[in-house]
Amino acid sequence: MIDPDPPPEWYARGLPHAWLPYCQMKLAPPPLPVVRTHGCRIVLADGRELIDGIASWWSACHGYNHPHIRAAVERQLAAMPHVMFGGLAHEPALRLAARLAAMAPPGLSRVFFADSGSIAVEVALKIALQFRLNRGQSERTRFLCFTDGYHGDTLGAMAVSDPARSMHRAFAGCLPRHHVVDIPADPSRLADLDRFLARHAHEIAAMIVEPLVQGAGGMRFHSPEVLAGMHRLAREHDVLFIADEIATGFWRTGDRLACETAGIRPDILCLGKALTGGTITMGATLATEDIFTAFLSDDWDAALMHGPTFMANPLACAAANASLDLFEREPKADRVRQIEARLREGLEPCRTLPGVVDVRARGAIGVVQLEEGTDIYSLRPRFVDEGVWIRPFKDVVYLMPPLVIDDHDLDILVSAVRTVLAARR
Ligand SMILES: Cc1ncc(COP(=O)(O)O)c(C=O)c1O
Repeated sequence: MIDPDPPPEWYARGLPHAWLPYCQMKLAPPPLPVVRTHGCRIVLADGRELIDGIASWWSACHGYNHPHIRAAVERQLAAMPHVMFGGLAHEPALRLAARLAAMAPPGLSRVFFADSGSIAVEVALKIALQFRLNRGQSERTRFLCFTDGYHGDTLGAMAVSDPARSMHRAFAGCLPRHHVVDIPADPSRLADLDRFLARHAHEIAAMIVEPLVQGAGGMRFHSPEVLAGMHRLAREHDVLFIADEIATGFWRTGDRLACETAGIRPDILCLGKALTGGTITMGATLATEDIFTAFLSDDWDAALMHGPTFMANPLACAAANASLDLFEREPKADRVRQIEARLREGLEPCRTLPGVVDVRARGAIGVVQLEEGTDIYSLRPRFVDEGVWIRPFKDVVYLMPPLVIDDHDLDILVSAVRTVLAARR
């Protein structure tokens, strides 16, 4: 149900001028006016509070308004809200670069700051292409990507997302064409990928993978063994391995990075979303020293020509440093394991409901997959009636709550999924 009270003045005046995300604006119900957040709660203009089941697109890992992040950002705001990163450097960014390099798998020693996840992916693709150019491998201009993959909304990122099934499918004919194959269903199917690479590696700059969980493509999981096998094949065929951990990073799938679970070190790593604790937009692209070295030259054309105006924004860096402090103080591995068990157990009864195809959980991600063609959008308002913020898409109802959620709130989320799905006809 949409807020029955008269909407606030700012809402009525501004909404006719807003173009909303992922939204057929002719058909979609209007958005809910929200006025505040705290902990795992979203407060609506009419005073209702919703328990957040998806952490603001998977980013608010410490919940909202965390006092430690807030204090760090306020201090930074007073000292220096922004300064360009071209020709100038500042402590929040360099401290963050060193910390990210230290937390990433050994060898990913160089950090390029971006202003969102999509831009972190663009930078990764650009680095991979230019690495090849700088090495004299100008024929390696294509990427290998995967069915159900999603890497962002900018054109380069769209081109390495699934061209047929993603939300960008309307653009299939307008984007550069890359190779798209299925993620091997199990380790025995790695041979297919091996054969594919044997035929095509000579034209491929890199493969790009969402490790362990493909998010916006439908919350599809693959095993650490399959991921490790894909990484091994990339190595064997001299194809760079880009891990897009924008959704999976920072303990979401159980370990600090999903790549750690598989014991692999990508050549390029993309971070975003929870990087700033979900407070300020920021992405980061990490590369190995070997890749970085390929850009060192007496020739300026060999340099990475990229530099968004707001890259390494000091407020975002301060938030990210504070978020890393929190992860250091409160390691998440145990809690994420508990969340996984509770999600699995709590969602399992959905398996017998009509129209349910699968129920699965990995880390702090719980998924109920429905039959394709289910009218998923009609479910959204019903969750609000249950006092929770859950936003199903494609064929999945999923939970990706803040990692700080307590058992009480988690149980309310899980029970709302059961109730709403059981009431479907
Ligand atoms: C795996 C992955 N890569 C990239 C992105 C794009 O990030 P952003 O929305 O910050 O541009 C997303 C966003 O959902 C994502 O899940």
